Amino acid sequence: MKLLVATSNPGKIREISEILGSCGITLVSPDEKGLAFDVEEGGTTFAENATIKALAWNRATGMPCLADDSGLCVDALGGAPGVFSARYAGHAATDADNNSLLLRNLEGVEDRTARFVCVMALAFSPEDILTTTGQCEGVILTGPRGEQGFGYDSLFLDPGSGKSFAQMTPEEKNARSHRRRALMALRDLLKSTGRI
Ligand code: IMP
Repeated sequence: MKLLVATSNPGKIREISEILGSCGITLVSPDEKGLAFDVEEGGTTFAENATIKALAWNRATGMPCLADDSGLCVDALGGAPGVFSARYAGHAATDADNNSLLLRNLEGVEDRTARFVCVMALAFSPEDILTTTGQCEGVILTGPRGEQGFGYDSLFLDPGSGKSFAQMTPEEKNARSHRRRALMALRDLLKSTGRI
């Protein structure tokens, strides 16, 4: 099966091909097809946003299209920043701005449990869309730790290893990431429904 992956992020394409490539799935990127367009992520949930993106690319290409949406959900903040993770501190916010706002909003808060969530949506047609979710649980630190990664990695403590995501090698982080879990669930769903 050939899938178009609705991302130009080489890291994501590599991670997806590691998991789905071994099941006879060939990935095609928008760059390889010479395609580029932005899709407005106007949904209120990760699933809605991933589905909007996957459907837009499916309509444009007629191919099965895979898209993801992910972010950080903090319990004490009612699930925020959630779908607004990339623009928590505003539309032009940097990772540093978003991290500072998160720390400010959690000042003096004891319950710091949180999770990264990722939803994968695979659109075969507008009537035939599969979605799967992956999560990883953690705790928000009171200050940054580590230099690796991106986004909220330096504030996200993995309780099992005692390391923040920014203190892990890419391999260590990918092994437990929300994206990987959503992809593994998608692979299992494709297998159990006889599509691969
Ligand atoms: P996207 O849907 O993968 O583009 O992620 C949206 C936003 O969620 C990113 O800009 C980050 O702020 C945050 N985010 C998602 N995944 C991660 C992660 O693995 N580490 C840190 N931040 C993440």
